[in-house]
Amino acid sequence: MHPNHDAFLREAAPFDTQVRGQPLTGYACRFRLDAYDDALYPGHGLRLPPQLARAVAKRRGEFLAGRICARRALARLGIASADIAIGPDREPLWPAGAIASISHAGDRAVCLASADPRVIGLGIDIESRIDARLAGEIRGVVVDHAEQALIEAGFDDAVAGLAAAFSAKEALYKALYPQVRAFFGFEAMRLARVDEGRLGFLAAIDLSPTVRAGQAFEVDIAFEDGGVRSIACCLRTSD
Ligand SMILES: CC(C)(COP(=O)(O)OP(=O)(O)OC[C@H]1O[C@@H](n2cnc3c(N)ncnc32)[C@H](O)[C@@H]1OP(=O)(O)O)[C@@H](O)C(=O)NCCC(=O)NCCS
Repeated sequence: MHPNHDAFLREAAPFDTQVRGQPLTGYACRFRLDAYDDALYPGHGLRLPPQLARAVAKRRGEFLAGRICARRALARLGIASADIAIGPDREPLWPAGAIASISHAGDRAVCLASADPRVIGLGIDIESRIDARLAGEIRGVVVDHAEQALIEAGFDDAVAGLAAAFSAKEALYKALYPQVRAFFGFEAMRLARVDEGRLGFLAAIDLSPTVRAGQAFEVDIAFEDGGVRSIACCLRTSD
């Protein structure tokens, strides 16, 4: 079978955004799982990684869509990338000179990238809409009582607010991973502020020599496509 790229990828397009004045380069797409075929990998000049040898088609498809977005986002920065390998904690191993982040949700995939050496961490997360039942299931894992009170005070829709806090913490995890180099859970960052389009967090514990308890982080949030999108960008502070 000849893989039909267009049947798999839909609405594939570049985008640009800014986080607190820092320009970031993105690429997003939708993908059709019913048009997925393993032959799409070589068709896009990519290899199915060994870690996905036993993965179901949904996982293979979302991974492919994420890697296609990543390659195209990096190409927009003038950085050629072959296969972007998978690190020990599932982190993408970016080519020298690039820092980026991938997310997928439902039929959407996105990659945000930068080649600015001041950017030392980047995290993007997209989440589909969650309902009250799912919110009830994840609430106790994602936030404590004080954080939940902030969400109820700061959002008209507390379920959407919880989804935003969840997504923002995942974006922060991806952005801080290059400094922390280890898994850390949702309790490691405490929601401290709810502002228009932005959530503020405080590190609850020391996570690394450069990420210390009490340190403040901000994550931009936007409700879109029925769900939420979060972006965390860590900048070098020493210069
Ligand atoms: C890793 C995690 C954040 C992914 O989020 P998700 O909503 O399940 O899935 P997304 O599609 O948004 O993101 C998956 C992508 O994140 C990226 N990713 C995974 N682990 C990563 C890491 N350690 N560092 C950076 N990026 C990572 C990968 O590109 C992955 O896609 P791929 O496997 O196809 O390459 C999530 O599964 C997880 O483990 N969360 C718990 C850790 C956490 O969020 N702690 C909160 C700290 S405050």
